[in-house]
Amino acid sequence: NELVTVKDLSEKMKLKVGDVIKKLMSMGTLVTINQRLDTDIAILVASELGYDAKLVSIYSEEKVENKIEDPAKLKPRSPVVTIMGHVDHGKTSLLDAIRSSNVAGGEHGGITQHIGAYRVLTQTGGYVTFLDTPGHEAFTAMRSRGAQVTDVVILVVSATDGVMPQTIEAINHAKAANVPVIVAVNKIDLPGADPQKIRQELSNYGLVPEDWGGENIMIDISAKKRLHIDSLLEMVLLKAEMMELKANPDRSAEGIVVEAKLDPRKGPVATLLVQTGTLKIGDNLVIGTTYGKVRAMSDEHGKRFTEAVPSTPVEVLGINEPPQAGDKFVVVSHESHAREIAQSRKEKAKAASLKPRHHLSLLDISAGN
Ligand code: GTP
Ligand code: MG
Repeated sequence: NELVTVKDLSEKMKLKVGDVIKKLMSMGTLVTINQRLDTDIAILVASELGYDAKLVSIYSEEKVENKIEDPAKLKPRSPVVTIMGHVDHGKTSLLDAIRSSNVAGGEHGGITQHIGAYRVLTQTGGYVTFLDTPGHEAFTAMRSRGAQVTDVVILVVSATDGVMPQTIEAINHAKAANVPVIVAVNKIDLPGADPQKIRQELSNYGLVPEDWGGENIMIDISAKKRLHIDSLLEMVLLKAEMMELKANPDRSAEGIVVEAKLDPRKGPVATLLVQTGTLKIGDNLVIGTTYGKVRAMSDEHGKRFTEAVPSTPVEVLGINEPPQAGDKFVVVSHESHAREIAQSRKEKAKAASLKPRHHLSLLDISAGN
């Protein structure tokens, strides 16, 4: 791991090369001016000379991840929606209802696989992307990594059960992420359903329906009987329109891992949500602590893509090992850069995971004394 020459390092510190060589000699390292220094030695000598050096790849994370977007290049993108709610309140049923009433007939290409995210084309012509997986844990994990995954939350509340612990959790997640909540009061087909009571309960948690002077859209639905699913979708699109969601499709892609697994046949498979830029076949990816090259992209119907624009979820093949849900991905120019960045992140992650153990053994020693 030899990167910087003695000359380069001296220039960076604005010191004479001779002084740096002398210092290195005093540390027992004999070098010439153009010799490349081992990273650890470079950091050490810099520190001896009063500099706090740290290893930053030329393709540093900042450079890779925080490209500034030119507002003129932003174009409208479709909304990304997460359905949340208490156990058994009907999240999966709602997703099924949305999918079956909106998947265009021609798109049915054999068996539909579960890929954790999919897009539907609504009656009015706009796409909506739904994230299927984020259980609350994955959502929390993503948020703790600073990843904003969803534009809108649909909160499903059973009209017979009312507000439950995970309902409150979902409300809190949405609030913390500053994401608007559209409430779907579900199971209104059941005899005991009391949608007004649900509205009352929700207002105790800061969700106030629009017709009560609040800010939250609330729609009474039945996922099972497929009632008012279209109105719900319409409201999502309306909300999204007001948010003026935009991204730049004309740049290298960035986004997030929705889920990933090791498929016995296909190898590592990841469902990625493109958040900005356009993902293309052949792109070199860094994903969390792993990397790869996009070999194939497909949707949940197995339909192949060569390009994926912002807000598109795709199943991607060609990754080295399965990343974690919530990991960010970025496209870099060379495979070797992807590998290098992934490697350095892996080392950092390893170092971080080792630290607490170190700390523990110190405590043990002092406790022993
Ligand atoms: P978890 O994934 O376990 O958290 O549950 P979920 O929120 O995905 O609920 P799911 O869609 O699995 O629905 C739970 C039960 O409620 C199932 O038996 C559904 O058939 C039923 N159910 C869902 N929506 C409706 C509805 O609109 N009306 C009625 N009567 N039953 C519903
Ligand atoms: Mg479910």
